[in-house]
Amino acid sequence: MCGIIGYTTKKNNSVEVALAGLKNLEYRGYDSSGIAFSTPDGLKMVKAKGKISNLEEKLKSMDTTSSCAIAHTRWATHGEPNETNAHPHKVGKITLVHNGIIENYATLKKELIKKGYTFASETDTEVATAYIDYCFSLEKNKLQAIVNACKAIRGSYAFDIIFEDEPNTIYATRKDSPLIVGYSNEGNFAASDISAILAYTNKYTLIQEGEYARITSSVVTFYNENLQEISKEIKTATWDAAQYQKNGYDHFMLKEIYEQPKVVQDIFERYFDDCTYSDIDFTKFDKIHIVACGSAMHAALIGKYLLQTYAKIPVTTEIASEYRYSESLITPTTLLIVVSQSGETADTLAALRLAKEQGAFVVGIVNAVGSTIAREVNKCIYTYAGPEIAVATTKGYTSQVAIFSTLALNAMKQKGLIEDENAIKDELLSIKDKLDYTLSLRDTYLDIAKDIYNHNDLFFIGRGIDSAICMEGSLKLKEISYMHSESYSAGELKHGTISLIEQGTPVIAIATNDNLFEKTVSNIKETKARGSYTIFVTTDDHKDCHFEEFADKTIILPKTSDFTQAILDVASLQLVAYETAKLRDCDIDKPRNLAKSVTVE
Ligand code: AGP
Ligand code: GLU
Repeated sequence: MCGIIGYTTKKNNSVEVALAGLKNLEYRGYDSSGIAFSTPDGLKMVKAKGKISNLEEKLKSMDTTSSCAIAHTRWATHGEPNETNAHPHKVGKITLVHNGIIENYATLKKELIKKGYTFASETDTEVATAYIDYCFSLEKNKLQAIVNACKAIRGSYAFDIIFEDEPNTIYATRKDSPLIVGYSNEGNFAASDISAILAYTNKYTLIQEGEYARITSSVVTFYNENLQEISKEIKTATWDAAQYQKNGYDHFMLKEIYEQPKVVQDIFERYFDDCTYSDIDFTKFDKIHIVACGSAMHAALIGKYLLQTYAKIPVTTEIASEYRYSESLITPTTLLIVVSQSGETADTLAALRLAKEQGAFVVGIVNAVGSTIAREVNKCIYTYAGPEIAVATTKGYTSQVAIFSTLALNAMKQKGLIEDENAIKDELLSIKDKLDYTLSLRDTYLDIAKDIYNHNDLFFIGRGIDSAICMEGSLKLKEISYMHSESYSAGELKHGTISLIEQGTPVIAIATNDNLFEKTVSNIKETKARGSYTIFVTTDDHKDCHFEEFADKTIILPKTSDFTQAILDVASLQLVAYETAKLRDCDIDKPRNLAKSVTVE
């Protein structure tokens, strides 16, 4: 999703700092970029389609000495990615960058055109800029003009705003989209997230909805919508800039794959040391809804399996973009669990707000500390996986699965369903070694990648919890290698889709769920009989099985419990996807069209 950074400083390096910050936001995904900066001749604005390097190229020939700049990476929602639609937008006395969607932009645009405004771009953002200018033409108090405009605007926004007659001051406000204020000795910031400014400061403040910030190089003042000054807590980020570096890995994704053993081990050690779920009484709930998007949804499916199978609680899972428009039958005895690595996903945020309005108790499984979702749930369980820069999530997913394992254990304990907690504890605390081993099989994964990277139609098949693992394996391969693959319940293939299997079609079959092992093997043989090229993923307790009858390649993983097997299985598929994407020379950390945090609907 787009990135915003505004910087106003006592020095004259605002452009350099803003561009550096924008690069740290690249991982969020974008298609164009731009910057506006104050000069003695007024605000200068430069925009470019494509990579930030294109913007830098344009700036090289300019004098960029400046004390205040606002910059933006755009992920287009209204108007194609081009220079005209790129931000910043300037209308009248207002220059602005925006993350989000102005839902009533068409209505506002009609109103503004009647008042004589004209528009150069196709964007909703330019309409918001014009509307603030219009309000400023009626109300000379800048903050009041912004408040009035925000009352008329519907949708999501994070705004950095500069007024023409105050070129070294940034005004900032947000609704739904993320925005923080940062403090340093040389100047102050307003940015989408901490990663943009960590190289300069770890001191930040979260802007809450309905709050407005006036930011100069020396003073930051916060106001509520009645323009009363409010005091805000200055927080210290625990992450440091080094965590935003590759530290010798070829890609952030590979670094984050290899961070998983420690991340997952830490989660289990934290749980057994001082489980913090005492304020979630599972005996109070007669059903659980788990809502998320993408990979977080795939982790939710593992959570459903564990909570339903072992804690005996009815669980439904639904993608957030559907949940909020469906009849969810929420009651006060419904527990809603939302899952989000970034804590800013618009669809998931909207679903949690709906559920809270309808009386549900909402638990969030979130990685980004202080994110919007983390702040709005009734109870937030942080995964503490550290910053995840690669767009394709890896440690974000496995840490969510690990949290679900501890939630299931906690629910079982509260319901008196645990027989031998020590055995489970020993198993969970041994995960690091098994995950290290799984990640050591790089030659196996590369060998498989060489077999599949030239194909464009693959199948992932499995049953039960393995079916959920297939969904994540398929998404990983799709999003970083651009190869089409489909995850299919192994038992369902013969009801139609098996017609697509022809000589050489790669089928990656997951059979690590003991109860369904034989059934899955039968389904694999059905595809083999029709010419498939089968890659069989199973566990070492089946190593005496005659794989040669139906498998062209095998991945043999350590056997562990249902609480952690998915972590090992998906970790192997992450590396198959990674090696495949490398062979296809794809942009692994920043795949085309994708954003790390989807803060628009
Ligand atoms: C994961 O590889 C994808 N990039 C995407 O599906 C992601 O999981 C989804 O957008 C949800 O993001 P969140 O966890 O930050 O809410
Ligand atoms: N909706 C705005 C546009 O399309 C902002 C998109 C974004 O958040 O980057 O320009």
